[in-house]
Amino acid sequence: MSFPKRELRRAYDRDAVGYDERFAELQRVKYAALLDEVELDPGALVLDLGGGSGLLLAALAERVSLERPPLLLDLSAGMLREARGRRCRRAQADAESLPLRSGCVDIAFAVTSLLGTRSQVLSALLEARRVLRAGGTLAFSLLTSETWEGLSDDLAACGLELRAGPLGCGQDTGYVVGVL
Ligand SMILES: C[S@@+](CC[C@H](N)C(=O)[O-])C[C@H]1O[C@@H](n2cnc3c(N)ncnc32)[C@H](O)[C@@H]1O
Repeated sequence: MSFPKRELRRAYDRDAVGYDERFAELQRVKYAALLDEVELDPGALVLDLGGGSGLLLAALAERVSLERPPLLLDLSAGMLREARGRRCRRAQADAESLPLRSGCVDIAFAVTSLLGTRSQVLSALLEARRVLRAGGTLAFSLLTSETWEGLSDDLAACGLELRAGPLGCGQDTGYVVGVL
């Protein structure tokens, strides 16, 4: 059975206002754990996948001054609206079908945003791999309760090499993977 994305989108649209106040502290722990493991090049094109209100981008800007505005993609228009004022290019998109050409992204993040069934998460990981350049990096976290045994094998089957993880990321477990 596939995860009802329309309902998910509506839920995030409904709860978008005030998201930062409610979740900034919780998410900040995850960003720190992932960012500590990633090499940040000022020239990189960065994608925040399921980036919502763009909280990660603020944490990222504390570590690196990016030459190009990062891309912020999310299913929920309401969440993207909360990101107005942040330096980024925003677009509504589904992680399983990204409006980006293959190999154009250097670093992608997906923090607590790969939601749904295992097959939907794997499909989103494959799509992230498609848009990343060879040697590119994906740093992501899943709710620990939604990880599964054999995840490392599934990552390898997606052509993603585990570089760091599993990482303690608060309520999430984090992974940093590279595109082979
Ligand atoms: C828990 S919030 C996390 C937001 C952000 N990554 C953060 O760290 O604050 C989950 C986000 O994932 C987005 N999302 C869920 N499924 C998605 C999908 N298939 N494609 C794109 N965005 C998705 C939701 O709209 C929501 O903004």
